[in-house]
Amino acid sequence: MNAMVLIAPSILNADFADLRTQLALAEEGGADWIHLDVMDGHFVPNLTFGPPVVRSLHRVTRLPMDAHLMVGNPDDQIDRFRDAGADRITVHHETCPHLHRTIQKIRQTGALPGVSINPATPVAVLSDILPEVDLVLIMSVNPGFGGQAFIPGSLKKIREVAGMIRATGRAIHLQVDGGIDLSTAPQVVEAGADVLVVGKFIFGSPDIPAAIRALRATLATSSPR
Ligand code: DX5
Ligand code: ZN
Repeated sequence: MNAMVLIAPSILNADFADLRTQLALAEEGGADWIHLDVMDGHFVPNLTFGPPVVRSLHRVTRLPMDAHLMVGNPDDQIDRFRDAGADRITVHHETCPHLHRTIQKIRQTGALPGVSINPATPVAVLSDILPEVDLVLIMSVNPGFGGQAFIPGSLKKIREVAGMIRATGRAIHLQVDGGIDLSTAPQVVEAGADVLVVGKFIFGSPDIPAAIRALRATLATSSPR
């Protein structure tokens, strides 16, 4: 078993009428974080949930809350998500004209800041912000919906970012989000990812704890570069 790779189930594909039970099942299966996909119907063509839902989930789980903000004006929302219980807040490069300021604002709240890039965004945009973040999120699908197919070109980007992170000498998580399942998980870990966001494979499964354990088992022989 590879203890270095973290599994962060995304509740996007969970049963929203029964989130308390679904979170408990994810905990039972050994989930490390809970990934919260916040969508505004503007930056991405879908709407999900906001701080009140995060606050309620925070009350019923001990897992760290990892908020992925896919919203047009993340600066306006950071304090509210932190107050609701988010431990980590990740924003998209594509939504932040003043990214450095946004990342600093997240850190000032006490949350750990992350930056994400879409499939069409080159990794080079990360170079000057890397010293400021605790996590980089490489989107391996176009954000907006769960259950999409993994974009194979993401592997090259993960390898490149893993090298950039090594060069900083800092411990920065490399997270991958979209289309992760038993076949893509080992590939992204071998490319250098250490946090896997997993939606449909876990919450679309009839046995949520077993799905998480199966992922863990398939990573037993893979390790981040
Ligand atoms: C996509 C979201 C993801 C995604 C993961 O916009 O950020 O977290 O839904 O779900 P799967 O694993 O189903 O691709
Ligand atoms: Zn996400």
